[in-house]
Amino acid sequence: MKQNGFESFANQRIWIIGASSGIGEACARALSNAGAKVAISARRKERLTALENSVQGITLVVPVDITDTAQINSAYQAIAAQWGGIDLLLFVSGVYTPLRADNFDFELARQTVDANLLGPMRAVACVLPDMLKNHSGHIAIVGSVAGYSGLPKALAYGPSKAGIINFCETLYYDLLPEGVSVHMISPGFVATEATAQNDFEMPALITAEEAATEILAGISAGKFDIHFPKRFSGFLKFLRILPYPLYFWFVRRFVRI
Ligand SMILES: NC(=O)c1ccc[n+]([C@@H]2O[C@H](COP(=O)([O-])OP(=O)(O)OC[C@H]3O[C@@H](n4cnc5c(N)ncnc54)[C@H](OP(=O)(O)O)[C@@H]3O)[C@@H](O)[C@H]2O)c1
Repeated sequence: MKQNGFESFANQRIWIIGASSGIGEACARALSNAGAKVAISARRKERLTALENSVQGITLVVPVDITDTAQINSAYQAIAAQWGGIDLLLFVSGVYTPLRADNFDFELARQTVDANLLGPMRAVACVLPDMLKNHSGHIAIVGSVAGYSGLPKALAYGPSKAGIINFCETLYYDLLPEGVSVHMISPGFVATEATAQNDFEMPALITAEEAATEILAGISAGKFDIHFPKRFSGFLKFLRILPYPLYFWFVRRFVRI
């Protein structure tokens, strides 16, 4: 059994959470250009409004803080009231604070997990009942290759993204027989405001527009596992199947951050 993709994004009702910058903004632009009806969410309303004014096809601006369950619920209700539902939830939003054992901070870790793992769960909980009732729809969540296995400077970010992988895998099991598609998106390094803070050379760095192209192609094709750029994500997939002594040796040797 294969899950559905999209023959075309034209007139599809798409809710993008995390559209005010970076990968989410690039996806919003690409999907609008492809003729979709796009609702955009994030906290920074002025950035969303500027995006709405610069692109045709953005029909709804719905500011939300993804850590606030009531805000997410009312955002979905507002969109459903306008459109009668959505065809694709594209959850892109995420936060990254470099954390190692020597600067580990529980409050920062809690905020990271709240935004990156509980955030998508909140959004999925809103859209699932309608998608299950209609036996249609798509849920796409941006995780990260940092969720594959433990990496330096990711003491909260890594676990939050590892949780996304498990969440998507389990959703896929449950939703495939129901006609609802799940797309797990694992980017490598993408040049955005989030990575501008990195003080090391990022291997296989791509642009946000290239990331959006990969994401749209993967969703169109009905793929579950969308990862890119392959030269980097494929290498990390290989690393995670190694026995731990070899894995840690590779990471110490090659991941110098
Ligand atoms: N860039 C990379 O190299 C890379 C690699 C792997 C995975 N990723 C993942 O890709 C996704 C997008 O990251 P990016 O690089 O494009 O970063 P970005 O430019 O910083 O974008 C992050 C987006 O998340 C939104 N956001 C953050 N906290 C939020 C909250 N509490 N409520 C609502 N929206 C929130 C931000 O909007 P507001 O601030 O306006 O709320 C913004 O739209 C993230 O999930 C990230 O973990 C990025």
